[in-house]
Amino acid sequence: MSESVSEKINELRERLRTHNYKYYVLAEPSISDYEYDKLLNELIELENEHPELITPDSPTQRVGSDLTKEFKSFQHKYQMLSLANTYSEDELLAFDKRVKNGLNTDEDIEYVAELKIDGVSISIHYRNGVFFKAATRGDGRVGEDITNNIKTIRSIPLKVNTDLTFEVRGEVFMPLDGFSRMNEERALSGEKLFVNPRNATAGSIKLQDPKIVATRPLDIFTYYFLSEERELKSQSEGLELLRKLGFKINPDYSVCSNISEVIDFCDKWDQKRAELPYETDGIVVKVNLVKYQKALGNTAKSPKWAVAYKFSAKQAVTKLKKITWQVGRTGIVTPVAELEPIFLAGSTISRATLHNVDEIKRKDIREGDFVMIEKGGDVIPKVVGVDLSKRDTDSVPVETPSECPVCHSKLVKPENEVAIYCENSKCSAQIKGRIIHFASKGAMDIEGLGEAIIDQFVDLGYLNSYADIYSLFDYESELKSLEGFGEKSIEKLFASIEHSKTQPFHRVLFALGIRFVGSGVARKLADGFGSIDRLMSSTSEELEKLDEIGTRISNSVIRFLNDPINLDLINRLKEAGLKFETEKLPQVDKKLSGNTFVLTGTLEKMTRKEAEEKIISMGGKPTSSVSKKTSYVVVGENPGSKLEKAEKLGVKILTEDEFIKLINLD
Ligand code: IVH
Repeated sequence: MSESVSEKINELRERLRTHNYKYYVLAEPSISDYEYDKLLNELIELENEHPELITPDSPTQRVGSDLTKEFKSFQHKYQMLSLANTYSEDELLAFDKRVKNGLNTDEDIEYVAELKIDGVSISIHYRNGVFFKAATRGDGRVGEDITNNIKTIRSIPLKVNTDLTFEVRGEVFMPLDGFSRMNEERALSGEKLFVNPRNATAGSIKLQDPKIVATRPLDIFTYYFLSEERELKSQSEGLELLRKLGFKINPDYSVCSNISEVIDFCDKWDQKRAELPYETDGIVVKVNLVKYQKALGNTAKSPKWAVAYKFSAKQAVTKLKKITWQVGRTGIVTPVAELEPIFLAGSTISRATLHNVDEIKRKDIREGDFVMIEKGGDVIPKVVGVDLSKRDTDSVPVETPSECPVCHSKLVKPENEVAIYCENSKCSAQIKGRIIHFASKGAMDIEGLGEAIIDQFVDLGYLNSYADIYSLFDYESELKSLEGFGEKSIEKLFASIEHSKTQPFHRVLFALGIRFVGSGVARKLADGFGSIDRLMSSTSEELEKLDEIGTRISNSVIRFLNDPINLDLINRLKEAGLKFETEKLPQVDKKLSGNTFVLTGTLEKMTRKEAEEKIISMGGKPTSSVSKKTSYVVVGENPGSKLEKAEKLGVKILTEDEFIKLINLD
């Protein structure tokens, strides 16, 4: 009996999967919603009667009822890189040149050009063809496990027709019509509106209740297939494989035989993107052949074989009320345009950067002018030009300040540099800037120590450097008497200061604020040298041995670590208990590391699961299909076709006893 029920269940699931695919991936439904619901209800009923037959990949299991209280962190096996941006044809040509130089060739390079979807990137893992986990990008290395939310997106298959274990990456987005419909409904019910589809997507995939996520009109385009069990020759092969497996890929990609075809593609879509039913912010250009991708490699943050071409940003004209001068943490003094507030591409802008004095002179930007401002994606808005026809007759050119607007010390302009500097390291603006950076999210992540509070604490003399953060406890009673500071918020602040001591060394290194040492470089240095002491005793040649570290960075690191003021700060931070070395990972028994195993047939002395766990605990990897890369095939009673395949490919075959011997070898 149960055989026939389970057959019926399987048949229903298969039919529902096919209809789901036709509806959500191909947008070509072949049955009515009514008929679909009928099939689904039939399956639900059968599963209710036989709950033991419910599997997580069943079409009934898309929407879970459990609330996620806190998303667990998810360690990406392979880093999720981001892309460097280009904004013009010239920059694309320069990219092509770098690629050719890197590959040592003059020949045309084949590229794949894809639309850059403006959404949120995610990674989905499948085990033996079954949806297993999904995570956000996070910082590229560690994201958040949002499995239950991603499962609700109907265009993502829960099971595909393959045995492979693989990862798929793609962009979750909200189509424009769904976005407007959702906002209309929210307006009616008095809920807050989302500013744009990307924010709506980001907000939706982080909701605690998958039931609500399921009502959000989310969709996905996948663009990357990764599996240790299936080697790919090219990006285009990856896209077609995804399509074949039933994933949704963007149909408007193009394989271009050279960079000029890429440029034509970019021009075409710059015009045509307005017709698309979803938002794009550019084109992603990828070297097609995987062997070339491997040869080119990556920088700390992004691949050298791919680049994003950003569409020309949206512009607006507004009045520049005043130019102010902002002192950064490194002492650089940057001109800032204070603008008549204006709404542009999703947000209201009242300030924009003017970069540096030379730029102001070159563009002849003056107070009172009507200026063109531009916003490119998430970049800080900038002033790109002046409408001279609207200039007042009595306007005057901007004067370069000679003294620091904050500490009034004399400003310096080094030769060969466009920037002007305040060289007084005790300038309160610099102190504030350094502390803000230290406490910021990407660095020590001290919640409750934001800009306004840092401002206040520096002005009151409680903080003179970031090392003082760890003596703030001494001011407990003073803090309590400050306006707006409750017992609770002080407790919270102290707790997050305490917590920051657990931040890993690479974050501490980034937090120190060494010039040119961003978070990626800090990680490289931390991984490469292991401790601050080893960094301090290293020469610039040693530093430059690391990938991506050139003289500019090495000089800056050495200068920083030789400055007695910085050494004193580092010592104080050490005393406070911050981490100045990388954690040593516990040594596990790695006897099987680098070896892959395929199990076939029934084992007698252990279950398959026990065997797999043992393999993993010894550093090996159990996989499901045999390839020439498989190290061993372990054969039990009644082996399947995998044995034949192993024999054909000449893969080493072990009996159960031989396998036990291998794992018991000391
Ligand atoms: S490839 C190593 N392809 O753009 C390759 N990314 O700025 C990295 N994106 O984080 C990504 N559409 O969120 C790639 N067709 C596409 C994309 C795409 C959108 C997003 C993605 C990524 C960001 C990079």
